Amino acid sequence: MKYTFLLSALLALAQAGPVNHSHELQKRSSCTITTSNLSNIASIKKSCTSIIVDGVTVPAKETLDLTGLKSGTTVTFEGTTTFEYAAWTGPLIAVSGSDVTITGSSGHVINGNGAKWWDGKGSNGGVKKPKFFSAHSLSSNSVIENLNIKNTPVQGFSIYGVDGLTIDSVTIDNSDGDSDGGHNTDGFDIGSSNNVIIQNCIVKNQDDCLAINSGTEIQFLNNQCSGGHGISIGSVGGRSNNVVSGVTVSGNTVTDSANGIRIKTVYGATGSVKNITYKNNKISEISKYGIVIEGDYENGSPTGTPTGGVPITDLTVSGLTGSVDSSAQPIYILVKNASGWTFSDIDITGGKSSKTCEGIPSGAGVSC
Ligand SMILES: *[C@@H]1O[C@H](CO)[C@@H](O)[C@H](O)[C@H]1NC(C)=O
Ligand SMILES: *[C@@H]1O[C@H](CO)[C@@H](O)[C@H](O)[C@H]1NC(C)=O
Ligand SMILES: *[C@@H]1O[C@H](CO)[C@@H](O)[C@H](O)[C@H]1NC(C)=O
Ligand SMILES: *[C@@H]1O[C@H](CO)[C@@H](O)[C@H](O)[C@H]1NC(C)=O
Repeated sequence: MKYTFLLSALLALAQAGPVNHSHELQKRSSCTITTSNLSNIASIKKSCTSIIVDGVTVPAKETLDLTGLKSGTTVTFEGTTTFEYAAWTGPLIAVSGSDVTITGSSGHVINGNGAKWWDGKGSNGGVKKPKFFSAHSLSSNSVIENLNIKNTPVQGFSIYGVDGLTIDSVTIDNSDGDSDGGHNTDGFDIGSSNNVIIQNCIVKNQDDCLAINSGTEIQFLNNQCSGGHGISIGSVGGRSNNVVSGVTVSGNTVTDSANGIRIKTVYGATGSVKNITYKNNKISEISKYGIVIEGDYENGSPTGTPTGGVPITDLTVSGLTGSVDSSAQPIYILVKNASGWTFSDIDITGGKSSKTCEGIPSGAGVSC
């Protein structure tokens, strides 16, 4: 009995053949980064395509450098990721690669410890503040999803030089900055990028929820923005790339913010803003403008005189509903050289029109 058992066990072993080494390789290709071996990150990126960032405290003046990931790499944040204080420009996290996925496991948090830097001055002065997340040079169906981010020192995501990125279900909660001096805490800034989708995200901040300075084929879908300046294109003009085209902003809510949707272009500059669609967005508790389109920005402030070097063409706003504060203006437009505008189903209650509009193309179906 015993011997028969042993024999059959031996037989089974023999049949299994040699050890499957590729199995082992795959095992080894999953690597965990902790605070103690953060200095090995360069070799970990070279050998692993499944990287876990486990409760890392990033030393002062260092970037959690996830640039140059191998194609197909998945990075998963676990536990609390945090950053030591230093007055510097950052970024605190950087990623790049093609076909990469950056995600977070449930219960994780990436805490930017913004309050250590917040002084009410943002990037306009005071202490030097590190940018938070550099998402540059990502391509071919890269994904950033399920991240839980708190308190960025200043701007959140910088999306630049990207072609093929989806950001899904990312929460950026900077609401502590409302009372604690958070400023210029943009959610997502996009420049020179194509084929970017940002969807199902929550942004609570003190500046633009989204700001597109340049780029094509960008979709901003079903996001919730609050506390900041609203959903922006611009300011466009005066940079190396001054073209924004093929933008869809749909199904978002903007609440407790300065503006609902905004386009701003730079006075005296050249460029173009074209083929822009806003569909079925909702606004509430808006303190300045429900819809604002201005072609008169200089050094970050409106001059009152629009120029036409950055024409805004083929603009559709269909379905924008909600309310603005009593002191706010529902719609304000000050542009030159605009054409091909269609507004429909705009229903904004509250507010008053204190400034007159200028430059609305005829037949656009919108007035102040
Ligand atoms: C070896 O393991 C890998 C990874 O688990 C698997 O894809 C492959 O089919 C296995 N090869 C053999 C010969 O069993
Ligand atoms: C990093 O350190 C942790 C904890 O000491 C360890 O579990 C992990 O395997 C290390 N990772 C690498 C790639 O050496
Ligand atoms: C306009 O933008 C949409 C959505 O991004 C895109 O599908 C379409 O091809 C663009 N049209 C033109 C003429 O560029
Ligand atoms: C209007 O835009 C066109 C480009 O579409 C440009 O050639 C023209 O100079 C602009 N006009 C003004 C008054 O700026």
